[in-house]
Amino acid sequence: MPALEPRKILVTSALPYANGPLHLGHLLEQVQTDIWVRFQKSRGHDCLYVCADDAHGTAIMLTAEKRGITPEQQIDSIRREHMRDSAGFLIGFDNFHTTHSEENRYWCETIYDCLQANGHITSRSITQAFDPQKKLFLADRFIKGSCPRCKTPDQYGDNCEACGATYSPTDLIDPVSALSGATPIEKESTHFFFKLPEFKALLTSWLESDTLQAQVANKLREWLDAGLQEWDISRDAPYFGFEIPGEPGKYFYVWLDAPIGYIASFQNYCDQSGRDFDEYWRQDSVAELYHFIGKDIINFHGLFWPAMLDSAGLRAPTAICAHGFLTVNGTKMSKSRGTFINASTYLEHLDAEYLRYYFAAKLSASIDDIDLNLEDFVQRVNTDVVGKVVNIASRCAGFLRKGYDNTLSTDCAEPALWDEFAARGDTIAALYEQREFNKAIREVISLADRANQYIDEKKPWALAKAEGTEREVHDTCSVGINLFRVLMTYLKPVLPAMSEKAETFLNCSLDWTSLKGPLLEHKLAKFKPLMTRIEMPQVEAMVEASKSSNTPTKAPASAQAEKGIEGDTIKFEDFAKVDLRVAKIVSAEHVEGADKLLCLMLDLGDEQDHRQVFSGIKGAYQPEDLVGKLTVVVANLAPRKMRFGLSEGMVLAAGPGGKDIFLLEPHDGALPGMQVK
Ligand code: 2FM
Ligand code: ZN
Repeated sequence: MPALEPRKILVTSALPYANGPLHLGHLLEQVQTDIWVRFQKSRGHDCLYVCADDAHGTAIMLTAEKRGITPEQQIDSIRREHMRDSAGFLIGFDNFHTTHSEENRYWCETIYDCLQANGHITSRSITQAFDPQKKLFLADRFIKGSCPRCKTPDQYGDNCEACGATYSPTDLIDPVSALSGATPIEKESTHFFFKLPEFKALLTSWLESDTLQAQVANKLREWLDAGLQEWDISRDAPYFGFEIPGEPGKYFYVWLDAPIGYIASFQNYCDQSGRDFDEYWRQDSVAELYHFIGKDIINFHGLFWPAMLDSAGLRAPTAICAHGFLTVNGTKMSKSRGTFINASTYLEHLDAEYLRYYFAAKLSASIDDIDLNLEDFVQRVNTDVVGKVVNIASRCAGFLRKGYDNTLSTDCAEPALWDEFAARGDTIAALYEQREFNKAIREVISLADRANQYIDEKKPWALAKAEGTEREVHDTCSVGINLFRVLMTYLKPVLPAMSEKAETFLNCSLDWTSLKGPLLEHKLAKFKPLMTRIEMPQVEAMVEASKSSNTPTKAPASAQAEKGIEGDTIKFEDFAKVDLRVAKIVSAEHVEGADKLLCLMLDLGDEQDHRQVFSGIKGAYQPEDLVGKLTVVVANLAPRKMRFGLSEGMVLAAGPGGKDIFLLEPHDGALPGMQVK
């Protein structure tokens, strides 16, 4: 491998809204970013990955209000959940911060001061829809009414889901506020604008830079050609965000402070680690800066962001790395089909590395959508990773342990084959670098086929039964293990946990930069299974669980996530459908193989007929502390088949999760079976 000059690279992925749990759409992006970052690190580069929660905006304020907590409590609990779920998928952030931070306030104010000093801010009065009941200006998505074209009722303010028409909320028939049901009125207010049109020349030359994806550059060109508009960067109180200095009651729009959150998270990282912030952000920086994002937010990152950075005297991104949306089984993720899958639901049923591998096998540098076909997922992971890659090691390990003291032979019997595997490293590295992960995986799997073919030809299992073939068996299996080592080195950015297990078995670190020759006369550790096959029932259980989990019913795409807000009341009849009962916990046990679940046996008043309920409360309770306690259960929830058995209800608990879960317990006197109403 040629000697490489270490590059300084700073990488970000889009900041998830602190308004709901991470779902597999978020994970597609984080996994893509993480693989790229791990790859860069494995090549010896100085690569850092920072992210944060996107904590501001009306939607978060309203969610907190609905939950009866402060916005700060809302964003704190969600941030903990996000960090837990990302860690579950082995996302190796160097820092995960929040936009509701002092660093971000400082940078928003500093950048805003520059924009203003450079004459790039203007203000004027505009008229907007206003909810007279909630005393709130209404963004289009908070206004509902009947579609002016097809008359379908209950459509959001900017487009009709039934006929696809796009319009402005004033065109809606009988518009109402989605927040209160009140009829919106028109109201004037002063807003601040960023003068984007003044950056036309800068943006024109930026989109000619050859680091932008062709599809992204085309999109940006279309917007430039259509004419740039001034960008409204202020919102009126009440708003959860940063107040604009000197402008009481006016706040920075969440989309102004969100990308500045990249800077703030990096600042926070530098303050902890002693890194030089300026080295990365000053205009003449030689460090590289990459933003991984979904294609729905290209305008913010491709137009406003470079223009703001320029006005503030900061460097431009090296590239924007946009990806497509995630579909599941060929269509938009859907709660009713159980394909709107939360990260935590996935992790309760399946190993993170299955999905990391599958995403890698499908991801390219284009912005085409990626489909997670659940049958293909099972088959692909089982065939490629378990059936091909792991198989190489498991076929060879037994012979080496039984006959050869678990030590590899002194010479490499197939130096040319080893060289061929090692030589493919540069091609595979180039593919990772270009984010053509699917092609990189294809290369690795074709090498795995080659290694299996070699073992098939040599047939160590047959040789081992013959006389005088000890050396050949030893050599063959040693070659097999050495080829496996090369493959695992190439797969390490995708499968970090499995690679760690392989490192233990191989008794060496899988280091791309020191892949100089085969391991000879090298002692191995005991071989342990590196990855088990996925079984379809696990996937089915995940889909079932997703049907009943607490996900928004709309808008999986990240920019539309805020649309999950529905009218905020239900009818009494709806509430009455839920059969809540007092239940006594008769027994509580750990569930083998489940990190978060306890299995509870509940008495609902009929001692002969106990209910089994799996509950994700293990982080907060010892089973023995629960036995004999009363709690509240949803008694008429459809039974749910889980990997561990049938769950016949749901116990009620409050809190964000982990150690902070609090089971509901009735006051003294309540008896098992009593209805809660
Ligand atoms: O679309 C979204 O989910 C936004 N929260 C992404 C923000 S990315 C960046 F600009 F902060
Ligand atoms: Zn319509």
